[in-house]
Amino acid sequence: MLSISEPCTFALFGAMGDLALRKLFPALYQLDRAELLHEHTRLLALAREPGDAAFHLNEIEEHLKEFVPAAQLDEGVLARFKARLDYVHVDFLKADDYTHLAERIGEAATVIAYFATPAAVYGAICENLAQAGLAERTRVVLEKPIGHDLASSRTVNDAVARFFPENRVYRIDHYLGKETVQNLIALRFANSLFETQWNQNYISHVEITVAEKVGIEGRWGYFDKAGQLRDMVQNHLVQLLCLIAMDPPAELSADAIRDEKVKVLKALQPITGEALHSQVVRGQYIAGYSEGRAVPGYLEEENSNPQSDTETFVALRADIRNWRWAGVPFYLRTGKRMPQKLSQIVIHFKEPPHYIFAPEQRMQISNKLIIRLQPDESISLRVMTKEQGLDKGMQLRSGPLQLNFSDAYRSARIPDAYERLLLEVMQGNQNLFVRKDEIEYAWKWCDQLIAGWKKAGDAPKPYAAGSWGPMSSIALITRDGRSWYGDI
Ligand code: BG6
Repeated sequence: MLSISEPCTFALFGAMGDLALRKLFPALYQLDRAELLHEHTRLLALAREPGDAAFHLNEIEEHLKEFVPAAQLDEGVLARFKARLDYVHVDFLKADDYTHLAERIGEAATVIAYFATPAAVYGAICENLAQAGLAERTRVVLEKPIGHDLASSRTVNDAVARFFPENRVYRIDHYLGKETVQNLIALRFANSLFETQWNQNYISHVEITVAEKVGIEGRWGYFDKAGQLRDMVQNHLVQLLCLIAMDPPAELSADAIRDEKVKVLKALQPITGEALHSQVVRGQYIAGYSEGRAVPGYLEEENSNPQSDTETFVALRADIRNWRWAGVPFYLRTGKRMPQKLSQIVIHFKEPPHYIFAPEQRMQISNKLIIRLQPDESISLRVMTKEQGLDKGMQLRSGPLQLNFSDAYRSARIPDAYERLLLEVMQGNQNLFVRKDEIEYAWKWCDQLIAGWKKAGDAPKPYAAGSWGPMSSIALITRDGRSWYGDI
């Protein structure tokens, strides 16, 4: 079993916010339950909300009880967890409050400062931590979004870099903490079978779908300023694309992996001019049905602005300019209010070079590697076999060679992405975090798309809630003689 060698003080800024209450405290609890927190590790909930510590600690406990499955709530673990947790009132912008914070942190050799706050205050928090004499022993963890374009992300990153060197900055993209995403690295680089096929000679195209069933609901104000491209494509989908497309790193170190990802980002073909219309689809959901229930459109959600032209759906074709991927499109698609929650990558292999079976079966002949991130984490390779039976002749069928993680490792609970990421920060391992230049190249690529949209002034295409997006997203892929895998 893994263990944390050194104790740390984990200082969570923005501790009473949604992310902390729904995701971070439950993840810390699960680490404690798995005995992965050092006995001297302490947790400080930092927030500027008025009210006494007991009140806030109680709220944290209430949320734990809501977000940790009942079967995993253990009285003993809960007592241990509460004993290491404290609440400290800190105004993040007030230098004086950090003197008090430093006293509470005391002699801890390692401090982890997790910023679950708007990125606009990251710089000020870093400066205040440094002035309180804490910088030397602190690792900072930055939540997304870091800026809303290249220029603003640089401003944030530069403000942090004034006080913290890159090897103590951990930028979160929670998709990198998902079990199957890490499995993708194992699949690609621990099996020689795939690497020999992993290029334009054998792969025809790649699909990445990240669909969500939920709409925007309570987050309209934040989301409307971002839109689906900034909220999901710039980070999660681009990171998945990099992990599929990168060359094998020389070693499993953070910089070796990130260097390879950056090469992919640099090779992404900018999408401009006419390609903006033929290769990119922006959509916005209108009223429809989700799980048989009528749901409002994006412009009718609570606190919405009915004039908004923010996209809730993006589909695009990305091309990578290098020897490995020339001529292999990567079709990316992500949206809110889709028919189901589904994150999956489909690698479509080319057809055999010479075909000898019945012509009517040709359509289904290519192999597919399907990497399912959620739900039901699995990796399956669809291969062609013959139908069983005397009456079947040489009738082909496409069937899976499957590794279903929840079946294969039935006893093991699949950890939430944040559990893995928090553990990695505590262990000082940056492999699953995003380096400054990765973020910047990703923004550069997205910025030109956004600039093109602005110039064209086109409104997003409507799609009914509960559908797979605008019709033009189907045309985007059928135009190339293909279809989205598994859409029903
Ligand atoms: C976040 C986005 O980064 O990822 C949200 O800001 C989105 O809009 C969420 O809902 C999806 O994460 P997951 O893990 O549920 O797929």
